[in-house]
This record gives sequence, C-alpha cells and structure tokens, in this order.
Amino acid sequence: MNKERKLIIAGNWKMNKTVAEALDLVRGLKLDLGGVKEVDLVVCPPFTALCEVSKAVLDSNLRLGAQNMSEHNVGAYTGEIAAVMLKEFSVRYVILGHSERRQYQMESDALVARKALAVHAASLKPIICVGETLAQREAGQMQKVLETQLRGSLAGLSKEQMVETIIAYEPVWAIGTGKTATTAQAQEAHAFIRALLGKMFDETVARRVRIQYGSSVKPSNARELMSQLDVDGALVGGASLETRSFADIIKNSI
Ligand code: PGA
Repeated sequence: MNKERKLIIAGNWKMNKTVAEALDLVRGLKLDLGGVKEVDLVVCPPFTALCEVSKAVLDSNLRLGAQNMSEHNVGAYTGEIAAVMLKEFSVRYVILGHSERRQYQMESDALVARKALAVHAASLKPIICVGETLAQREAGQMQKVLETQLRGSLAGLSKEQMVETIIAYEPVWAIGTGKTATTAQAQEAHAFIRALLGKMFDETVARRVRIQYGSSVKPSNARELMSQLDVDGALVGGASLETRSFADIIKNSI
C-alpha cells in the first residue's frame, strides 16, 4: 500500500497477559512478522511484562510501548511509573488519554497534556487517544468533542514535539464492541483532526502527524481502513492479543 506517511500499528494489550503469556505472544509475532519493514510495529504490554518483553524484542522489528506514564519524574506518587523507568526497558512509545483511563481514572485533557510534555521531555513518543461516545456522536457533537480533546491534550506542545506525536482516533462506541466505524466515518474524523492540527500548528506539521484508527480493528477490516487517505495506522486492542489476528492485520495493511 502506497501511503504518504509510514503506517504505525500498535497492539494495546490493556490488562491482559502474564509474563509467560506475553513472551508466548511476542515470540509468535517475531516469527510471523520478522520481515516486515513497511510498517512501524509496536506492542504495548502491561508494565509487569515490559522487562521480559523488552529482552525478547531486542533484535527484532517490534518496538515497545507503555500504556500510561506519570507526569512526574520521581517521588512520592504511589502506584505511578516514571519515564526513566520505562526507558530502562527501551520503551519508545506511551499511550496517553485512552478512553478507558479518561472514563475510569477520570483523566482530563489537562492531565494528558502534562503527561505528553513529560513523555517528550524523555524523548519518548506519545500516542494520544481521542474519540467521541455514542451519545455525543448521535447529538452531532463529534467534531466539537474532538476539538476540545485535541486542543486540551496537545496544549503546550511545540511544532517539533507535535510532529513526533501520534494521534489515535478511537470512537468510544466502537471499542471492544465489534462495531467499527465505516471507513467513510473513520476518514471523515481523521480528515477533521488533520485540518484542526493545521489550524493549531501549521500545514506542514499536520501533513506529517500520523493518525491511527482504533476500535475493533481486525484482519477483515484492516485493509480498507488503512487504505483511507488520512488513516496512518491502527491502535488494536482485542485483536492484538493473539499472534494470528495481529499478524494478519499487519499483513493485510501492507
Ligand atoms: P479494541 O480496542 O480493538 O478491542 O476495540 C482498541 C483500543 O481500545 O485501543
């Protein structure tokens, strides 16, 4: 597939996989995807598996992401994980503001923005998630919601930092539900996000930022989604938990 921006496909394992299960999965992925150069490949295991998975992917084309990070560098923040700890395991990407954290941990756009600055300060790349709920979409508020989330979550980023930031558009109503946005709905939202980035930063930045689609991405819909002009990859939840389905998503996207 000939794309203006290199595709980036990341597996968000969420709260799944013990260390042994994580190693099983990653060994399978290495075997299946060893030759893939056309797509940036990322796996985001739970924190507890980062150490072992980092060793397993050392000599491969799989890069490591974390599912969250503290805005602070060190200190009395029980239960939090700092950038320097992630860097020990060669983590390159950090998912921020996932809708599950926005919903269950009450993460705000302002907090996501502070975390994004901390991620960049550590020379890591944030994957910042945005997306509307079903009620918001049905009320015709999709664009307004995305604009609020993006202006809030990207506040304070420089143009240089924005270019190194990945946006994941994840319509909340389609996460883990088996419902996917139609390719037209995905493209419409992605084009809206890119146009907004043009206004917030500039056209050059907007053209370079990679925007992933996420929510029930699977082998059967990956190709059509990835063929859309402004879809530059995927953030995959459920289908990233098995070697076959994650590998097929990637093969079907090439
Ligand atoms: P899903 O999750 O692929 O299971 O819908 C995507 C995500 O939440 O990142």
